[in-house]
Amino acid sequence: MDPLFEQLKKNAVDNRQRIVLPESLEPRTLTAADRVLAEEVADIILIGNALEINEKAVELGLSNIGRAQIVNPDDEEALEPYAQLLYELRKNKGMTIEQARDKVHDPLYLGCLLIKNGDADGQVAGAMNTTGNVLRAAFQVLKTAPGIKSVSGAFIILLSEDKKEYGENGVLLFADCAVIPDPDAEQLAQIAVLSEQTARYLAGIKEPKIAMLSFSTKGSASHSRVDKVIEAVKIAKEMNPSLEIDGELQADAALVPSVGASKAPGSHIAGKANILVFPSLEVGNIAYKLVQRLGGAQAVGPVLQGLAAPVNDLSRGCNPDDIFKTVILTCNQAIGNKQK
Ligand code: ACO
Repeated sequence: MDPLFEQLKKNAVDNRQRIVLPESLEPRTLTAADRVLAEEVADIILIGNALEINEKAVELGLSNIGRAQIVNPDDEEALEPYAQLLYELRKNKGMTIEQARDKVHDPLYLGCLLIKNGDADGQVAGAMNTTGNVLRAAFQVLKTAPGIKSVSGAFIILLSEDKKEYGENGVLLFADCAVIPDPDAEQLAQIAVLSEQTARYLAGIKEPKIAMLSFSTKGSASHSRVDKVIEAVKIAKEMNPSLEIDGELQADAALVPSVGASKAPGSHIAGKANILVFPSLEVGNIAYKLVQRLGGAQAVGPVLQGLAAPVNDLSRGCNPDDIFKTVILTCNQAIGNKQK
């Protein structure tokens, strides 16, 4: 495993967290759960029928699932306190107690309710469910962290050996690649502020340098979309005056020192950026997949930043190793929240 993950894993092992995996019969998830338990990375809570889970574990040849806690989503009596909690959280949005009793059977909601109630520390899902469903349960039950309005999704990008000159020794953070389809200037600024924290705490980037990307560098083009990025830089600096941030910058000006020097002379970020904030979800999502597929980089995430408690979404094309790593990241977010 990459040294970054070895370090994050050690932190998880040393500060054991309780992670919910609601997609408990999903083979890749169950395989990852087995490894998490075997390596004592976290305590695992599976949501499902114990008999079915144990049968599936035998079928997959897994020997550690017996150490997981299993929560049955059909146990009406045990679920009643969680239904009441959901009702309290959502009644001002029109949810009735009957609707809450129905919704609580949904493992994605039940997992978030376990966290909200203090019975778990984080959740990892999305091997079977869409991003939208994973996110909606988290937004509705856990909501954002204090002072945060918008949650976004960052990828840790680990470049190949021959590209270590980019980012901080080949490590970059890309955001938002997962959540906000069309961010306004304030949301872009919030993405930048949260990405700086994620970069420091999870990606091990010691000197975060944020480039707010555009198709323009320092006035080379004029358009309302460029103005939005310039406005976002201003708001981000107001939100956190100590941020190392600049924009608008094109991707080459942000990453390549010679291009940065010629297109944005005097910029303290151009040519040195290690956090790329994209102007829209289309750009961010497409860019990370191109870097991963054509550029040979590892893209780890998305790490959801800005929730009151950590929930992370998986790609439906994920493998057990991706799930294992996402559990490690989720543990580290939970540990970080407790240290705040
Ligand atoms: N941060 C915090 N809360 C949010 C956010 C956000 N970014 N977006 C929505 N919410 C809240 C709303 O305020 C609302 O709360 P409320 O019900 O308490 O008032 C709740 O979430 C639901 O909001 P809706 O507007 O009903 O939700 P919507 O249908 O817009 O869904 C979602 C929000 C799921 C995030 C949507 O924006 C979305 O689908 N985004 C794209 C996800 C995606 O497909 N990503 C690409 C794939 S991921 C990958 O490839 C790695």
